[in-house]
Amino acid sequence: MAKPLALGIVGHPIGHTLSPVMHALAGRERGVPLSYGVFDVAPARLAVAVAGLKALSVDGFNVTVPHKAAVIALLDDVTPEAAAIGAVNTVVNVGGRFIGHNTDAPGFVDAVREDAGVDPAGKRVFLYGAGGAARGVAFGLAWAGAKNIVIANRNGERACELAAQVTAATGVAATGLSLAGNLLDTVAAADIIVNTTSVGMEGAAEGSSLPGVEGVRSGSLAVDIVYRPLDTPFLAAARERGAATQDGLWMLIRQGDRAFRLWTNGKTFPVDRVREAALTELNN
Ligand code: ATR
Repeated sequence: MAKPLALGIVGHPIGHTLSPVMHALAGRERGVPLSYGVFDVAPARLAVAVAGLKALSVDGFNVTVPHKAAVIALLDDVTPEAAAIGAVNTVVNVGGRFIGHNTDAPGFVDAVREDAGVDPAGKRVFLYGAGGAARGVAFGLAWAGAKNIVIANRNGERACELAAQVTAATGVAATGLSLAGNLLDTVAAADIIVNTTSVGMEGAAEGSSLPGVEGVRSGSLAVDIVYRPLDTPFLAAARERGAATQDGLWMLIRQGDRAFRLWTNGKTFPVDRVREAALTELNN
């Protein structure tokens, strides 16, 4: 029997990750023996942790909050996409060299295309948030051919910076806005509206709401990347206005599928079974 793949995830804090369940199930279903460890690594220990993973010759690992940007300097190489986004969430050991990838961006696009049935090509996008998660979503949608992207953030300057970077790297028209202005008409003009902020997340900005949600119109697609809870106030408001909705678990699954493919020479997640298992874990 082949030696099991040695995989894992590095983050801080990391108690609640669904990744071990998803990869273990995919490994069983696809006949790939693997182990997937969960490693809580404080920022000050990231360099020594990555060196340790290299000494142990792990086959690959995921990187999550707050290490996705900081890990780049510790790797042997990163893909051009991960470099443009400025974040790595998946590392692959290629002959002893650690290569960084970003599967959040294509994973988000896969979720929209495959699971919501909407092709981002030619679509007008409205994005709430300009943090780490927004970066993958914005670049992913731009590379997928979005017509334009409006980025609205509490800190408007951060939105303008991200918009300028997206336009410079992809050529797609992107604009940054503050959440403080009147967003109704801009939201109403969008085909795809995405929440990448922590608004609606359990324990985070749970009580806050997103201004301009009343502008969401029927025929559009509203996507949340928050998956705890699965149904957020943003998705409920969008649904009430006749929009199609997609919860944040789909993006999580699809970034995992992309990572699994990188580690297994192209084997895919059994997406429906993985979602079932992730839902069971989420409800525990
Ligand atoms: P992540 O990696 O999850 O994106 P992050 O980089 O800390 O985390 O970004 C969090 C995002 O949620 C930011 O866009 C943040 O807005 P600011 O840049 O203005 O801080 C947004 N956010 C967090 N709490 C919020 C709130 N109560 N209302 C609106 N936006 C909020």
